[in-house]
Amino acid sequence: MFRPRRSSQVEKRPPSLYHCRSFFGYCLTMRVLGIETSCDETGVAVYDSERGLLAHDLYSQVKVHAEYGGVVPELASRDHVRKILPLIGKVMTDADCIAVDIGGIAYTAGPGLVGALMVGGAVARSLAYAWHVPAVGVHHMEGHLLAPMLEDNPPAFPFVALLVSGGHTQLVAVQGVGEYEILGESVDDAAGEAFDKAAKMLDLDYPGGPEIARLAEQGDPARFTFPRPMTDRPGLDFSFSGLKTYTLNTIAEHRQSDGLPDDQTMADIACAFQEAVVDTLVIKCRRALEQTGLGTLVMAGGVSANRRLRGRLETALAKVGGKVFYARNEFCTDNGAMIAYAGCQRLLAGQADGLAIKAVPRWPLDTLQGLER
Ligand code: KG4
Ligand code: ZN
Repeated sequence: MFRPRRSSQVEKRPPSLYHCRSFFGYCLTMRVLGIETSCDETGVAVYDSERGLLAHDLYSQVKVHAEYGGVVPELASRDHVRKILPLIGKVMTDADCIAVDIGGIAYTAGPGLVGALMVGGAVARSLAYAWHVPAVGVHHMEGHLLAPMLEDNPPAFPFVALLVSGGHTQLVAVQGVGEYEILGESVDDAAGEAFDKAAKMLDLDYPGGPEIARLAEQGDPARFTFPRPMTDRPGLDFSFSGLKTYTLNTIAEHRQSDGLPDDQTMADIACAFQEAVVDTLVIKCRRALEQTGLGTLVMAGGVSANRRLRGRLETALAKVGGKVFYARNEFCTDNGAMIAYAGCQRLLAGQADGLAIKAVPRWPLDTLQGLER
């Protein structure tokens, strides 16, 4: 367990390097505790601006929600309450840190499930108050967008970001941290949501993305051709709800007495579905790069763990001299490391929030501020 210090102890100890403020008002270096609780994963990490990621861990609630086929918000909040402090204790120990080593705390303030956000926000804000350090509420999608920065070969600004998660599908022109212009987004379901819904129709487990991807490997890509929604008209918006209906109809046409198609047909449908989503995303990414004149694409969010999508984007961009960046699998889906990293950038720039706990269920990404150092 971590050892919280009494405030008198904190004051007695010489100020840590990590607490130093430069003459210009922003920190030169910082060690940040990051906390993610926006949905069904409790993620915690310690990120050091000089030494990189010191430790991270995740508690996934997948089993809690599996029997319902999707996330139950109230159960999510309750489970975050149970898991968050033991997880913080473990990650602090793994990072070989005690309270005084932490210079700031970053927590996911939105978008997400409000009850779940409030658990992480309340714990983060209270620890920051007790430890006399600043706290900052981080935008969950900014966390995803910056996750590839945690890798050895990070992308350089500017770039186009494809954000593909369970709640969002967006193409964003990124000039720097906080400098985001939305180029296009889904007008209905997010890509991850479409994967989850198609998986449910095929009676696969939640979350559906990895399940569809696994089944698709056995599928024949030539058997069915599903539509590529909104690719026949200009623009960078997406729509995935029609694809959902198409999948449902195809399943109905091949249904057997047990209510589902035979195993090979199931795999062929999963394959056709994945190809349609991947193809649609690739077409729009190419278009976004052409429109902006940029050559770097960063993809982030749970769906960026999809191997077929990674492969297709890499091939498509290599043909035009472009490059694709993405995070390792565990940092594509929700995690504390991306929140610690994003929060660290803002805290280093002197940005911090007040004592009120911030929980913003709906929060447009393009309303964020730049770092303005
Ligand atoms: O970013 P994330 O962990 O949570 C949100 O912020 O929503 O994304 C979760 C989504 C789920 O819809 C899940 O099915 C999808 O990412 N996902 C995948 C894969 N791994 C996760 N979708 C397709 N292929 C995958 N390999
Ligand atoms: Zn996410």
